Parts: sequence; C-alpha cells; structure tokens
Amino acid sequence: KSGLASLHTFTEEEQMLRESVQRLAQDVVAPRVRDMDENEQMDPVIIKTLFEQGLMGIETSAELGGAESSFTSAIIAIEELAKVDPSVSVMCDVHNTLVNTVLRTYANKEQQDKWLPLLSESKLGCFCLSEPASGSDAFALQTRAKKDGNDWIINGSKMWITNSYEADIFLIFANIDPSKGYKGITCFIATKDMGIQIAKKEQKLGIRASSTCSLNFDDLKIPAENVIGGEGKGYKIAIEILNEGRIGIAAQMLGLAQGAFDKAVPYTYERKQFGQAIGTFQGMQFQIAQAAIELESARLMTYNAARLKEEGKTFTKEAAMAKYWASQVAQSVSGKAIEWAGGVGFTRETGIEKYWRDSKIGAIYEGTSNIQLQTIAKFIQKQYS
Ligand code: CAA
Ligand code: FAD
Repeated sequence: KSGLASLHTFTEEEQMLRESVQRLAQDVVAPRVRDMDENEQMDPVIIKTLFEQGLMGIETSAELGGAESSFTSAIIAIEELAKVDPSVSVMCDVHNTLVNTVLRTYANKEQQDKWLPLLSESKLGCFCLSEPASGSDAFALQTRAKKDGNDWIINGSKMWITNSYEADIFLIFANIDPSKGYKGITCFIATKDMGIQIAKKEQKLGIRASSTCSLNFDDLKIPAENVIGGEGKGYKIAIEILNEGRIGIAAQMLGLAQGAFDKAVPYTYERKQFGQAIGTFQGMQFQIAQAAIELESARLMTYNAARLKEEGKTFTKEAAMAKYWASQVAQSVSGKAIEWAGGVGFTRETGIEKYWRDSKIGAIYEGTSNIQLQTIAKFIQKQYS
C-alpha cells in the first residue's frame, strides 16, 4: 500500500531490492519489533540476516564482498526497514551511509581491501564523532591522539554512539594538533579488541532497540596505518559524509511516517462510530489527505536529494532540507496516526505509539533541525548577498 516517489525513476534492480527488503522486514523484523523495544536490545538474528542478505555493504564493490548497488538502493533499504522498525533502519543506515562510505571514499586501497570485506560480511561498524561537550559544535571535540613511534595513542571519550554496543569496527575522530583547531581532526579506524570500553548504554524515549553508548579511550593504541584519509583531514571527512548521511535519516523518517500511516489508515475504515466508518467523516478524511501530502513532499525531497547525489551534483542544501522536513513529517504523521486510532492507538499493542516515540530522534541526530536550518540559511545567504 505504501507509495513510491513519483519523480524518481528506479532501476529494475532498485525495485527488486525494495521488494526483497519489504519481505525481509515483514518476515524477520516485524515479529521481533515489540520485544526489542521493550527489552531495549537489538536481536542478533536481525544483524546476521542483514549481513546475509547483502544489506550491510550495499554500495561496496562485489570484489570486496558488497552488493555493488547504488546510493538510491541504500536509501530504499533504509526507508523500507524504517516502515517496520526505525531502530533496525538506523543500524543499517549508520553502517552503510556513514561507516562504509567513509572507507569507500577516503581509505587507500590496502585499507579498503582489509576493512570493506569485514564490514560487508559480518562486522558491524559505528561512527564516533559526538562527545559530551561537543554535539552540534562537533569540531570542538576533546579526544586527542598523540604519535608514539608507529602508533597513535588515543585518549578521551565519545557519547551517543549508535551501534557501538554490538559493533566490532569503530571510526574515531580525534584531534592530533589542537593548535590547528578543527584542522587537527583526524579519522582513525579501530577494532573493539584494541581496548575500546563501553562506558554506558543509554535508555531512550525511542529507537530503543538501537544501541546508543558512551565510550572511553584510555591510552587506546592504534597503528599508524589506521589513519583514514590523511592527518588533519578528519573534519572534512566527517561533515562531507554527514551531508550524505542526512539523506539516509530523511529516508528513515519517511519510512517511519509511511509505516505509521499504513498501520492507522486501514483501521479508520474498519472502526465505526455514529453508524459509519470513522475514516469517512470529513474531519478525518481531510486529516488523512493532509498527511498524504506531507508524505509525498518528504518522499520527493528525499529521493530528489538522493538523485542529485547520485548524479554527482551539489546536494548539501537539498539533503539538509530533506532531513529537516522528513523529521517534521514523521512527528506530525505518527502523532496523527495515534489520534486516528483513538485509545487503541495510545496502547503499545498496535505499535502505532512506537512510531511517534521513534520519530523524535529525527530532529536531533546527524545535526539537529536548527543545524539543518543553519546549513540551508548559509546557502541562501551566499546566493543572495
Ligand atoms: N559541508 C561541507 N563542509 C562544511 C559543511 C558542510 N555542510 N559545514 C561546514 N563545513 C566546513 C567548512 O567549509 C569549513 O571548512 P574549511 O575551513 O576547510 O573551509 C569547516 O567545515 C568549518 O566550517 P564552520 O566554521 O562554518 O563550521 P562550524 O564549526 O560552525 O560547524 C559543523 C560545522 C560541526 C559541521 C556543524 O555545522 C554541524 O553540522 N553540526 C552537527 C554535527 C553532526 O551532524 N553530528 C552528527 C554525529 S553522527 C550521528 O549523529 C549519527 C547518528 O546519529 C545516526
Ligand atoms: P546540543 O548541540 O547541545 O544542542 C541542544 C540544542 O541547542 C538543540 O536544539 C540545538 O539545535 C541547539 N543549538 C546548538 N547549537 C546551535 C546553534 N548554533 N544555533 C541554534 N541552535 C543551536 N553522534 C555520533 O557521533 N555518532 C552516532 O552514531 C550518534 N548517534 C546518536 C544516536 C542518538 C539516539 C542520539 C540521541 C544522538 C546520537 N549522536 C551520534 C549524537 C547527535 O549527533 C547529537 O546529539 C546532535 O548532533 C546534537 O548534539 P547535542 O546532543 O550535544 O545537542
């Protein structure tokens, strides 16, 4: 029943991927959603299945174990998973659009040969940028790296790191020369067994099955060859990858909104009050139509940003707009969906209230809504001043 973007032309491969992710989401994810939410835990069966089905190296070349598919395919997978569980969706999103993309874009050949097959086949990755004192102001990070012979020694801490509880592979941003400000930020790759400590797993309002942890680095030793993209290049890597990643979050929020809509709307044609289906009252019809417009606009913006990126055009402003708007739409549509189902929508049994809880994060991570507005405003100012 879910709609597809009207303007975007999908390839046959992309359409097939959409259908296969829909099946996987129904068969493997849907039966586990409620338990995972209640227990605040990702089921390992889901992680294993995503790897087995080629969804953890979507854009990685076949030679390195990936599916060698398009960026749009990654966006489709994120959207379809979010219709059923936004937690599973963000796990796949961070792994593909942040971790794999950093390596595919900035790592040298030896590094790609070493890490990308692991990330496609079995090892979950995470992206460690935010810290307790630097969220929006990400480049003010306090984690430090010092050279020691052929190694780097990292000290500091990270906060809010998605996937980190289950992850084996960590992309860590640390400053090697604070006198250069953000131009000292460098990207390192590390494995858990090098000595990464999980300090705390957060308890959250939504996306509760997605792990979010604080990490401590206490003289963490990383070999010199594990610098990705060159010393001092980390800030550019982080923000350029986040520009792309934001389209992933837009897709997550779009899928979430569509998932809530798909659950609640059929109920309005079954439930009768005053002798008729509640969905046939004009007051309800107009709300449902309004939500459909919101969904369509978020869908067009998300896939338009994906198309611009795919075509090698400038997409930063459009990605920020898509993420901002899809997050708003997710909150609005999932909130309405609860109301359409009345008291039943407020209970945990239908799963509709979960979409609303999960929607709140869209306006926070990968840059808050204010940060997206700031990014958009900078483009406008440049164009008009
Ligand atoms: N694209 C490319 N480059 C950008 C950029 C963008 N959107 N924004 C800033 N830059 C570059 C600038 O060009 C400049 O580089 P040069 O000196 O080489 O020209 C440099 O960054 C600093 O620019 P500013 O002084 O304007 O930037 P700032 O320090 O005020 O803020 C920022 C920059 C930290 C990137 C901020 O705009 C931002 O986006 N904050 C949000 C951080 C964020 O998104 N964190 C997400 C963490 S990961 C995550 O959240 C994953 C998850 O949950 C699932
Ligand atoms: P703050 O930066 O303190 O912002 C608080 C408020 O102030 C916001 O409303 C913000 O918009 C506003 N504000 C701040 N600066 C400005 C400004 N200049 N102008 C106007 N308003 C402003 N980070 C990672 O590195 N990796 C991850 O995998 C990851 N996953 C996450 C998962 C979850 C569940 C959560 C909650 C966070 C995650 N994050 C991750 C961190 C996330 O990116 C940050 O929380 C986010 O960037 C905001 O930072 P903050 O929480 O420090 O809020």
